[in-house]
Amino acid sequence: MGQKKLWAGRFTQQTDEAAERFSSSIQYDKRLYLYDIEGSMAHAVMLASAGIISDSEKERIINGLEQIKNEIESGTFEFRVDREDIHMNIEARLIELTGDAGEKLHTARSRNDQVLTDVRLYLLDAVDNIICQITALQQAFLHKAVQYKNDIMPGFTHMQHAQPVIVAHHLMAYISMLERDKERFSGARARINISPLGACAMAGTALPIDRQMTAHALGFDAVSRNSIDTVSSRDFIIEVLSDCAILGSHLSRLAEELVIWMTPQFRFVALSDAYCTGSSIMPQKKNPDMAELIRGKTGRLNGNLIALLTTVKGLPLSYNRDLQEDKEPLFDSIDTVTAMLTVAQGMIRTMHLNKERMRACADSGFSLATDIADYLVGKHIPFRKAHEIVGAVVAYCIEKNKDFAALDMNEWKSFSDVFGSDIKDMVGADGIDRSVAAKKSEGSTSPAEVERQINHWETILGVL
Ligand code: ARG
Repeated sequence: MGQKKLWAGRFTQQTDEAAERFSSSIQYDKRLYLYDIEGSMAHAVMLASAGIISDSEKERIINGLEQIKNEIESGTFEFRVDREDIHMNIEARLIELTGDAGEKLHTARSRNDQVLTDVRLYLLDAVDNIICQITALQQAFLHKAVQYKNDIMPGFTHMQHAQPVIVAHHLMAYISMLERDKERFSGARARINISPLGACAMAGTALPIDRQMTAHALGFDAVSRNSIDTVSSRDFIIEVLSDCAILGSHLSRLAEELVIWMTPQFRFVALSDAYCTGSSIMPQKKNPDMAELIRGKTGRLNGNLIALLTTVKGLPLSYNRDLQEDKEPLFDSIDTVTAMLTVAQGMIRTMHLNKERMRACADSGFSLATDIADYLVGKHIPFRKAHEIVGAVVAYCIEKNKDFAALDMNEWKSFSDVFGSDIKDMVGADGIDRSVAAKKSEGSTSPAEVERQINHWETILGVL
């Protein structure tokens, strides 16, 4: 139990110790210290300019805050649970250092607008960092796409062989997914970038403050419009949690593919030893643990989103202490996606794809069936009919234990007399190359379209 609390004017009894621990957030909100100090400095400068405090008081406050920053960064600052949160830890220390001047800092401010100032400033940095990290992962994919732009793999639907695709095409699917993730974070950023400072507890203030001035000093785009909404709302955080969860789901799908691709049954990928671990009992094992953890950590990203949605649901306006529960899920999701992105990037950069194996698999499983149906369409057979004919060919092949290449002309003709000798070329040794080369539509797997995609991403992400 510590000294009298900054808010305890009307209190005659001390806070219960368990209640103090229960309500304290300093353990996790201390990471906001830099933003808290920055916000307080801007506030002090504005108070002086509005004539609410003197210039010498402003100087003492700024110097005191500088000293506190040094104390925190050198590890000598004492974070106290009885001072509840980062705001009151810093303010109480400032009062110790500067007396009256420090006692004036909280004029025309409440922790309700202060905490939001801190979190918004924190998030602007965090979101920028995530966007940079996503770009780095996209670049890693682009690098691999260029490396594997002439190789062919099976494309899947339902985890069954569907059609041959160029490996770069598959890899660049992730670049497109990640681009939308970046757009989502940028969209959220615009709504984060609004100054709450000056909303005070909830109703604003009678003191002659200048909200534009603090907003400008802190680099915010604008000031919030409604003081009640300002201290009540956490949708900017929910949005970030949602963006993290969606990004996580993309990274998790990637992780799942890597896990599958690394199985002895697939053998599509060799992940670097740097991203795998061994087994403590089975000496032969090389496990894709980092990919599994990326997949696994997606659960908590979803959980964090649901946690805050649940906290906010049903809360009356304006500020309620429940809202303090926004920070742990937020910090956890930011830390988690940041770590996931770093590891994913390294894994993609260092992976080796087994192009021979991929090509061999692309050539199996009747993956040219759709091409053959399209061939029949070219001979004026309605697509539904063509589908049925090729289905019958597949059934025949399965029964005879043959692939398309093994069928002779008589066998082809027995299914449709429009089959000409060119069908033998279509399903020959370079059948899968012909298949991808024959694609024409925009965004398809044809070499020309894949090249176009590579060029597109090279202009956006830089040539690697
Ligand atoms: N630690 C609090 C939070 O994170 C700061 C705001 C406290 N406001 C209050 N009226 N008790 O929400």
